[in-house]
Amino acid sequence: MPKGIDDFIKMKLNGEKIAMITAYDFVQAGIAGEAGIDIVLVGDSLATTVQGKDNTISATLEEMIYHAKIVKNALKDVFTVCDMPFMSYQVNAEQALMNAGRILKESGVNAVKTEGGKVIAGTVKRLVENGIPVIGHIGLMPQFINVLGGYKVQGKIEPQIEKLVDDAKALEDAGAFMIVLEAMPEEAALSVQNNIKIPTIGIGAGRFTDGQVLVFYDAVGMLPQKPPKFVKKFTDSRSILIDGLKTYKEEVKSGVFPAEENIYK
Ligand code: KIV
Repeated sequence: MPKGIDDFIKMKLNGEKIAMITAYDFVQAGIAGEAGIDIVLVGDSLATTVQGKDNTISATLEEMIYHAKIVKNALKDVFTVCDMPFMSYQVNAEQALMNAGRILKESGVNAVKTEGGKVIAGTVKRLVENGIPVIGHIGLMPQFINVLGGYKVQGKIEPQIEKLVDDAKALEDAGAFMIVLEAMPEEAALSVQNNIKIPTIGIGAGRFTDGQVLVFYDAVGMLPQKPPKFVKKFTDSRSILIDGLKTYKEEVKSGVFPAEENIYK
C-alpha cells in the first residue's frame, strides 16, 4: 500500500522526517522507489532540468500529464504528486478542477501541487472538496519568477514572514494536506511551522520543516553547473556516467568491446 495523507500526518506527529524527491521518467522513478523515498514529485522543474529552459513558466498540462504517467508506471506503491503547470489553475476554480481532474485520471498520481497562498485558497478548497488532494507551495514560487524579479530568498523581513504565515494558514484552512516552503531563512520556516498543523516540506528552508524535497538531478549530482547553496550532492553521478561512457568509447575503438561474453552463439 502506498503511504497516504494520514501517514504523513502520523510521521509529523512522530517526528519522523518526510523525504520527497522529484522524478520525471520511469528510470528515475524506479530508482526513487527502490531507495524508499516517501513521496515523489513530478515537478514542473522538468522544464529546466529535462528541457533546458530558463524557467518553469512554459511547462504545459500535456507535458506534465505525459511525465506523470510514465513516473507513475514505476511507482504503483509510492505516493506521487504532480505539479499543476503555470496557468492551468490560476484563471478560476473550474479551470483548476478540470485540469487537476485530468492529471489524476490520466496519470494515476495521488495528488497535485499548486503555487500560491491566500490568492488560490478558494481554488484549493474546490479541488479538495472534489476529491483531489493538494500540496501548497509558498516562499520562492518559480511560477511567480517574473513578479519576484528572480530566484530570490523570501521571508527575510517581518512583513514577509507574516505573509508566509497567513498564506500557509489559508492553504491549511482550504484543505491542503502539506505545504512546500521554498528558499527562506529557517526562522521564517519555523514561524510557518508553528502556526499550522499539516506537514511542511522544505527546499532551501532550513532544518525545522517536517521533511525535505530536492530536484533529482541536483541530489545525485547530474548537472554540470554549480548547484544553489541549499543543495547537497549525495553522489556525483555526472562524473560516474562520463567516466563510464569514456571507457565505452575507448573499448569500442580498441575492439575490447564487444567481448566473448557479449556475443550471441
Ligand atoms: O518543480 C519542482 O521540482 C518543485 C520542487 C523543487 C519543490 O516544485
